[in-house]
Amino acid sequence: MAFFWKGEYGISGRRYCALYDSSERLGLVHLHMFAKESPEVEKHLIFRDYLREHPNSARLYDQTKKTLSQKFRNEREKYTEGKTDLIQSILRQAKIWKNGGHLLRKAELGDEAEIANVHLNSWREIYKGLLPQDYLDSLPLTFSRRMRWWKKSIAEEREIIQIIETNEGIVGFSCFGPARRSEDSDMAELYAIYLLERHKGKGFGFELLRSGLKLMKESGFKKAYCWVLDKNPTIEFYKRTGAQNSGVTMDAEIGDQKVTELMYIWKDLGEF
Ligand SMILES: CC(C)(COP(=O)(O)OP(=O)(O)OC[C@H]1O[C@@H](n2cnc3c(N)ncnc32)[C@H](O)[C@@H]1OP(=O)(O)O)[C@@H](O)C(=O)NCCC(=O)NCCS
Repeated sequence: MAFFWKGEYGISGRRYCALYDSSERLGLVHLHMFAKESPEVEKHLIFRDYLREHPNSARLYDQTKKTLSQKFRNEREKYTEGKTDLIQSILRQAKIWKNGGHLLRKAELGDEAEIANVHLNSWREIYKGLLPQDYLDSLPLTFSRRMRWWKKSIAEEREIIQIIETNEGIVGFSCFGPARRSEDSDMAELYAIYLLERHKGKGFGFELLRSGLKLMKESGFKKAYCWVLDKNPTIEFYKRTGAQNSGVTMDAEIGDQKVTELMYIWKDLGEF
């Protein structure tokens, strides 16, 4: 019997070796080594800790591995591929659990449907009474179009899109980028920030805002603005986070209704 060294074997930074029985087909020991500071180590520890605390997930993982190992007895790659989705899903739950119930992260491809869902539902909730009800009722019809739009936006990486994820999935997002209506090159813009109603008031909005403004500051911007409907109660949130009414207004039309938008400005991103 001897150890067979397999190098990184698909994971950057890994050193993988396996000890087989005398037939050299049945793996007895699989050893995966990483440098002490590797993020892979932390990932594996979170995964392990989560399974220790969540016996149902541990059982599901165990059962899946047993089933796959019987089905693909001599097909190591198919066995590994078969458990990948489950591992990713458990790992996502594990990170949320480790972080105390929610996680702020950059949006990735695959998040577009949940972001479009938050976008639509938050609009229907916040703009009730502010925009025509017919228009709000028709919003679900735009779901596919919006989903494609978010997918393109995530793929192109021209905007900074961050999401808040809980065990219920994505419950909020924000989107920042360079100013679209200002010649001032120091100026960034908050394009959108939305949370589902049941997750408001938990600090998620501030976490999204602070993190986004910090990233814009790190990209070299010194100030940021956003547009907000003059009757949107979110104005209080912007004020609470240090934004001021610039006095600049914009007339627009949403769902055949004339509306006025106000420009609120965070004058010093140094505070974030
Ligand atoms: C605006 C929004 C993102 C805020 O998120 P949130 O998680 O509810 O806000 P937070 O819990 O982080 O609150 C941060 C602070 O703002 C205050 N605040 C938030 N919303 C407020 C409101 N509508 N009125 C008064 N104060 C408010 C909070 O009380 C808190 O103050 P504190 O630090 O003194 O406790 C969320 O309410 C939302 O999705 N609104 C609807 C969408 C929307 O209008 N988007 C903007 C379009 S321009």
